[in-house]
Amino acid sequence: MVSRSLVCRRIVPSLGNGSRSSLSKFGRCWGYTSQAASSLLQACEPSVYSTRKEEDEYADVDWDNLGFGLMPTDYMYQMKCGQNGTFERGQVKPYGNIELSPSAGVLNYGQGLFEGLKAYRKENGSLLLFRPDQNAIRMKVGADRMCMPAPSVEQFVDAVRETALANSRWVPPPGKGSLYIRPLLIGSGPILGLAPAPEFTFLIYASPVSNYFKEGTAPLSLYVEDEFDRASRGGTGGIKTITNYAPVLKALGRAKSRGFSDVLYLDSVDKKNLEEVSSCNIFVLKGNVLSTPTTKGTILSGVTRKSIIQISRDLGYQVEERAIPVEELMEAEEVFCTGTAVVVASVGSITYKDKRIEFRTGAQTACQRLYDILVGIQMGQIKDKYGWIVEIN
Ligand code: COI
Repeated sequence: MVSRSLVCRRIVPSLGNGSRSSLSKFGRCWGYTSQAASSLLQACEPSVYSTRKEEDEYADVDWDNLGFGLMPTDYMYQMKCGQNGTFERGQVKPYGNIELSPSAGVLNYGQGLFEGLKAYRKENGSLLLFRPDQNAIRMKVGADRMCMPAPSVEQFVDAVRETALANSRWVPPPGKGSLYIRPLLIGSGPILGLAPAPEFTFLIYASPVSNYFKEGTAPLSLYVEDEFDRASRGGTGGIKTITNYAPVLKALGRAKSRGFSDVLYLDSVDKKNLEEVSSCNIFVLKGNVLSTPTTKGTILSGVTRKSIIQISRDLGYQVEERAIPVEELMEAEEVFCTGTAVVVASVGSITYKDKRIEFRTGAQTACQRLYDILVGIQMGQIKDKYGWIVEIN
């Protein structure tokens, strides 16, 4: 087994309140760290954190009981961009709080984007990223919409690679989950009048995860929301801005309190066509036809979504990206959700206007077949004929 553990042990565990601090050793860098003084954190050269030794191969984690909760890891990545629009060289640094002005653009006007991607550990110990360039491209598109400069694709992918390697002991053993990597781009500079922030920060942190839903891999029960909308025409539903997510919490909480797994949104104009679920895209299968809503501004162009479209076409399914009237659910044989966090999740039922519609689930479904192929590629168990996998040792 290849060992990729760190010379430096975890340096900045959660310190609780700002008054607590610790003197930490960071390879050849030493930093006096506290949550209230994160600006003092010392950055390290990649050579420091990527040095390996036999002990400490894995972090002390109960790998059999991972869910989708935040488990802070050793390091995060930070890169800033001032008014010249160019991101300076970024740094891997110990994970900890960041310092922001109360008038930061992101806090006042929601100028921010996030991304999500995963690193998997292959049986031979190497680490694999899945299509990180697609997240980089999506962040660029979103940044343009949100009037922010974005890291180049190369800067983004390098930063993700460095973050994953620095946190390699937090990448679960094969088959136990993945390291969820969360890039953020925020307007960090102070601003009072409504305008783009004068400074932007690109951050990446990570957390080991397994199943997104508390149901695990059991089929989901969705509730079709008819009061709240997720996105509007001309709005930002098609990009991964942080401002798309808090507004769904109300409907999500209500659906969960009624026993549903998640909420399925309809278009905000006619309340007629399927859009997406709070945190993922949706697919509907009837016969050999696999349909998913078109990504025309209100629907996120998921990396898993486009990968499943490609795999399905190669398997011989007729894939249609189109408007899907909610009534079509009545005739659907299978429904499933796709997303980085949810992967490919089978939907067992959808409740619309008090009517519960049930779908095929289980081992013999298209959903299971697509899940197996996608995850097989992501984990390096199935040959990647698409060139989607980036090995990062
Ligand atoms: C992801 O799938 O990575 C997402 O961004 C969804 C998030 C709400 C967990």
